[in-house]
Amino acid sequence: MGQRSRALGTGMCVPSQVITNEDLARIVDTSDEWIVTRTGMKERRRVRQDQAASDLAVPAALQALEEAGVSPKELDAIIVATVTSDMLFPSTSCVIQDRIGARHIPAFDVSAGCTGAIYALSLADQMIRVGTCRHVLVVGVEVLTKITNWTDRSTCVLFGDAAGAIVLGPSDDDRGIVAFHLASDGRGGHTLRMPAGGSRMPATHETIEKRMHTLYMRGNEIYKTAVNMMTESCVILTEQVKMKPRDVDLLIFHQANLRIIEAVGKRLNVPNEKVFVNIHKYGNTSSASTLLAIHEAHEAGRLKPGMLMLQVAFGAGLTWGGILWKW
Ligand code: ACO
Repeated sequence: MGQRSRALGTGMCVPSQVITNEDLARIVDTSDEWIVTRTGMKERRRVRQDQAASDLAVPAALQALEEAGVSPKELDAIIVATVTSDMLFPSTSCVIQDRIGARHIPAFDVSAGCTGAIYALSLADQMIRVGTCRHVLVVGVEVLTKITNWTDRSTCVLFGDAAGAIVLGPSDDDRGIVAFHLASDGRGGHTLRMPAGGSRMPATHETIEKRMHTLYMRGNEIYKTAVNMMTESCVILTEQVKMKPRDVDLLIFHQANLRIIEAVGKRLNVPNEKVFVNIHKYGNTSSASTLLAIHEAHEAGRLKPGMLMLQVAFGAGLTWGGILWKW
């Protein structure tokens, strides 16, 4: 395939309302100490009742386009990773296409849980490499607080709302996406899901009373698989360039749990300073998670041109995978 694609601009948007661990301790039987020691989270953000996914996605997209110096009219495709779209259809990508004033280009959503942004970036990369597109907007956005069961302390402390965006375009040197790895195993689908609201179980009074339109997670069942599969992705990706994960400059893991991030880092024998962490500020933002981290690392100067960076995630599906970037 042709020329590599690279990130021309990045963006992010989080709602202004901050939910602290102390706020959560007032609504469920939990504590700051439990949440910090088990997850590393201190705060997360929550949208207003009248806000939806596209309300976070549009500002993140516009910020990425501005940094890229690409106007919405110059986009050739929009791909949005989300499991909390504005509605089941039309897609949030079409809502964004309209709101940013893009042309009549392909726009579609990808549902791959927290690995969604990696799936979306890999698709965009291939569209650019084969030459069908020049500029592709990729957004990862979630408003998980809208599908949270606020009476379930084992999940409601974990999730937050956010959008992250990247504009990909053709690279004129060897910078960009070097390799990607995508995988899934549907046998684990029952461990993380929203049971009702689809064609299997449309909304009824009963599904609402039983809170089946909210997120269910068997956290401790996912934990071990998350560590194993993210570790495996890092090894598979770096083997492609005959390197080891500890040889890359920065590792950006899905921010689901600080203990998972540290366990993967330890298994790979990577020094802590090479592992980016912002989970304390935003919690688990699923499809947005690694894009927020990339944007913040880039803004903070931790991700400099030419650096090797691994972006790796794990999520509902089950899905997992990663991207090796030369930034
Ligand atoms: N506050 C206080 N106690 C709690 C809380 C809470 N918020 N939540 C659970 N507990 C209790 C449990 O009831 C249990 O009590 P018991 O021993 O009396 O039964 C105890 O804490 C231990 O519960 P575990 O579930 O075993 O706790 P664990 O240490 O595994 O931590 C967690 C739970 C944080 C969910 C962890 O399992 C995890 O992070 N799993 C991975 C989840 C993940 O990665 N999901 C994301 C992938 S996809 C996506 O991001 C959408």
